[in-house]
Amino acid sequence: MSFKPAEWPRKLRSQHWYGGNSRDTIYHRGWLKNQGYPHDLFDGRPVIGILNTWSDLTPCNGHLRELAEKVKAGIWEAGGFPVEVPVFSASENTFRPTAMMYRNLAAMAVEEAMRGQPIDGAVLMVGCDKTTPSLLMAAASVDIPSIVVTGGPMLNGWFRGERIGSGTHLWKFSEAVKAGEMTQDEFLEAEQAMSRSSGTCNTMGTASTMASMAEALGMALSGNAAIPAVDSRRRVMAQMTGRRIVQMVKDDLKPSDIMTKEAFENAIRCNGAIGGSTNAVVHLLAMAGRTGIELTLDDWDRCGRDVATIVNLMPSGKYLMEEFFYAGGLPVVLKHLGEAGLLHKDALTVSGESIWDEVKDAKNWNEDVILPVEKALTQQGGIAVLKGNLAPLGAVLKPSAASPHLMQHRGRAVVFEDIDDYKARINDDALDIDETCIMVMKNCGPKGYPGMAEVGNMGLPPKVLKKGITDMVRISDARMSGTAYGTVVLHTSPEAARGGPLAIVRTGDFIELDVPNRRLHLDLSDEEIAARLADWKNPVEPPASGYARMFHEHVEGADTGADFDFLKGCRGSEVGRDSH
Ligand code: FES
Repeated sequence: MSFKPAEWPRKLRSQHWYGGNSRDTIYHRGWLKNQGYPHDLFDGRPVIGILNTWSDLTPCNGHLRELAEKVKAGIWEAGGFPVEVPVFSASENTFRPTAMMYRNLAAMAVEEAMRGQPIDGAVLMVGCDKTTPSLLMAAASVDIPSIVVTGGPMLNGWFRGERIGSGTHLWKFSEAVKAGEMTQDEFLEAEQAMSRSSGTCNTMGTASTMASMAEALGMALSGNAAIPAVDSRRRVMAQMTGRRIVQMVKDDLKPSDIMTKEAFENAIRCNGAIGGSTNAVVHLLAMAGRTGIELTLDDWDRCGRDVATIVNLMPSGKYLMEEFFYAGGLPVVLKHLGEAGLLHKDALTVSGESIWDEVKDAKNWNEDVILPVEKALTQQGGIAVLKGNLAPLGAVLKPSAASPHLMQHRGRAVVFEDIDDYKARINDDALDIDETCIMVMKNCGPKGYPGMAEVGNMGLPPKVLKKGITDMVRISDARMSGTAYGTVVLHTSPEAARGGPLAIVRTGDFIELDVPNRRLHLDLSDEEIAARLADWKNPVEPPASGYARMFHEHVEGADTGADFDFLKGCRGSEVGRDSH
């Protein structure tokens, strides 16, 4: 921890808009005064942008406008000037073809909103899956003092005496309906029970994972991730965040001081310990790409290998975020990592303290929720990175969500050319498939879908489900919802639509999955693979125009985070000339 706070007072970037009495200044300042701000608010105090991803169509963030009032209160108290700025909100449950297609658009829009406007620091108000990484990517590229406050998870869902988790039970119940174990009416009854309050998904899905990643990176105040959305302590956290950002601006404590290689390694290990979403892989790779830090899939495998999954939350375990909060939340997990020698203790956080200082006194109040290591859900909880002739650039699998008996498996491939082909044939009892087969789906990666949809956890064929089988090996270039589970190989790279070997797999080929040895192998000779690739024609047409066209032309592979090639790196906060 070598951070040295900057001198204060000094001239801030907002003063280039509001300082002095020139015609330009009066233009910027005078118009803002139509909101009734007194003149002395423009005296050089930190102007803090509250970048809010609230939207009626991002229901997981639906309470963020109310929460922003607490952030504002904290900023006023600390002597700052809060301005709330609505920003692009990439809602997971609304956007088609998939919210992931808009993560980079959101990151690009927010980056420009931060750089092009008179703000000295930013509070990133996020929650739903893509909102957290997109705003962190933007903050890394602009590199002005920034702090995350998430909206917090929903309260536990309950249905007929059973704890039910967002997403996780949606997959379970829909399989049960297909298997004839649940009626459609019961399914509808469970719908409302699943979403009981404001907030994000209450499992350790992608939203909870990314909130945890923000905290483990040091970009949120300690304890932020797990506080339920409707708990009064969430509002306290928002107010404390508002107070803190003002001091961060005075100290000039920037993302580049916090989001270091050590911080990313802490986050990767934390992801293993919480049994976090595979989506964290693409998001952390993309964030690191914005900072200029070299982070690779190999870092994920290296750092995650020896991390036990100790957080007993769905989809890997039993409980939900509410219980995680009551048990002590993420600080307990980070403390455990520190004691196990798996944490860079000196990594700096937004508080100005080291991560170890923040968590060393944490206490575990429920050892059935945050397990002792000897009772861990799995001793190898990190993301397994697989390589082989089917995935030369890598593929990922989440061991804590997979079935132990399938971790080494050889099976006959049943291939679906894309999601439509899968949907058209999966329910057909004439489909030649059983539980020993490996389901393969193509053209669902960044270019192929487009946007790399969360369809990798293909539902099993009804005739297999009816036998009581709940898992099969599945391989694709897609992603998987963080709330999902199964022996699912994801992010296979290069993707099929880029001509990766996945593109030439045929039904009847044999595939070997060997997770302990990190191998994914198509049982064909090199010559046969080369011959098939030479004959291959890309079925994916580039979109004719618009954002979809730009996405297709510039998105990179999942193995490097699926960011746009032209958005990598930190471009800083310097802005061009004024227009007046
Ligand atoms: Fe928004 Fe899960 S869909 S948090």
